Amino acid sequence: MNVLVIGSGGREHALLKACLASPLATRVIAAPGNGGMEADAQCFPLDVENVPAAVELAKREAVDMAIIGPEVPLALGMADALREAGVLVYGPGFKGAQLEASKAVCKDFFAKYGIPTARSRTFSSAEIDAALRYVAAEPLPVVIKASGLAAGKGVIIAQSREEALDATRGMLDGSMFGEAGAQVVVEECLVGDEASITLIVCGDKYVMLPAAQDHKRVGEGDSGPNTGGMGAYCPAPVVTPEMERRIVSEVIEPTMRGFAAEEYDFRGTLFIGIMVTAKGPMVLEFNVRFGDPETQVVLPMLDADPLALMLDCAKGTLDPANVAIRSGSAIVVVLAAKGYPGKYAKGDLIGLPTQLPVNSSIVHAGTKRAADGSILSAGGRVLGVCAQAETLQKAADIAYGIVGKVQWDNKNFRRDIGHRAGVTPAK
Ligand code: AMP
Ligand code: GLY
Repeated sequence: MNVLVIGSGGREHALLKACLASPLATRVIAAPGNGGMEADAQCFPLDVENVPAAVELAKREAVDMAIIGPEVPLALGMADALREAGVLVYGPGFKGAQLEASKAVCKDFFAKYGIPTARSRTFSSAEIDAALRYVAAEPLPVVIKASGLAAGKGVIIAQSREEALDATRGMLDGSMFGEAGAQVVVEECLVGDEASITLIVCGDKYVMLPAAQDHKRVGEGDSGPNTGGMGAYCPAPVVTPEMERRIVSEVIEPTMRGFAAEEYDFRGTLFIGIMVTAKGPMVLEFNVRFGDPETQVVLPMLDADPLALMLDCAKGTLDPANVAIRSGSAIVVVLAAKGYPGKYAKGDLIGLPTQLPVNSSIVHAGTKRAADGSILSAGGRVLGVCAQAETLQKAADIAYGIVGKVQWDNKNFRRDIGHRAGVTPAK
């Protein structure tokens, strides 16, 4: 089987590695890929927003199955277009993808199927005055969200009235996020610990991967500005067995009933962002793709071939009964460029260790490969160092051992990934 992985981040490199390790794949290619993906497989140029170009590539390269990593091509209907061209696809079609592409649609889904979530109201740009009146009367802090896709930047937790009103105005008049802010969701601010739940979904059947926890702030002790994620680990102890039972019965089961009732024919990942509050699990968001960096820790926990599961989803034949989860824990430490998420340099030469311990890997995100095969930094989040072991502390020790061997003067990373699960910060 010929497999195509679409995307260029750490998530896609992890997916590519899983496909390359699978006996089901005879050839694995990627588009557009990154420096590390190029070293592992043939990569083809692709603008992931160009749906016809993806279909053309799949036909030209006789692709049997495509795995779509990022949300933007999913929201544009790339999965439908590939399916129409006879390609098996892991990733929901346009309709299912709207659960991530429109927070307004997602909130309506939560309301219709009784899924616990923050109290909210949605406003469109025609209702700017009503929105400002509503925001003026809400308790602080208040959460203002651009409904559309805003590359993870569309959520503002406003601490002051002025900030809340400015964000509402800026989103609805298009000055902050363009079209993505044409609708805003104004939400009550929830307090608790966050967890990421990953489901591999086929219609109304699913495989649940261990709960993970991302580290969004750039600095140790969860300080400094938000990033795309500085590291993750799983399983996250905040999701106790009792909390997991509640997530299944209060969130996942009604969601699967909704998927069936709405005929989403969902074949892909449902990523559920949960706030574990004093009252129980509350859903922050649905994403319709694997998390990044969560993928790098949840895939190694599968005691199954991830490509086989994704293929079964693509075909509509997933049987969750056969899927086991490994014991132990997994961690990923992200190496970012110094200065990220602000200004940072690109083009730094990076030296990578050639030998890695068992059950560890380095995934690339923002890298490119020079003509002589050397690796250069090419983005903010550059590498992810992943390890899996019997305990989280052991996995962390292995990962940080590898981090120490990455030769790159401008690397910045957090030494405290896993701190909420009691991991001792690295020296
Ligand atoms: P979202 O894209 O909706 O998941 O929001 C991004 C991040 O903003 C989440 O991971 C949370 O850290 C935070 N967030 C979103 N909604 C809320 C809320 N209602 N209360 C508190 N924090 C929130
Ligand atoms: N790590 C959160 C996400 O992928 O959306």
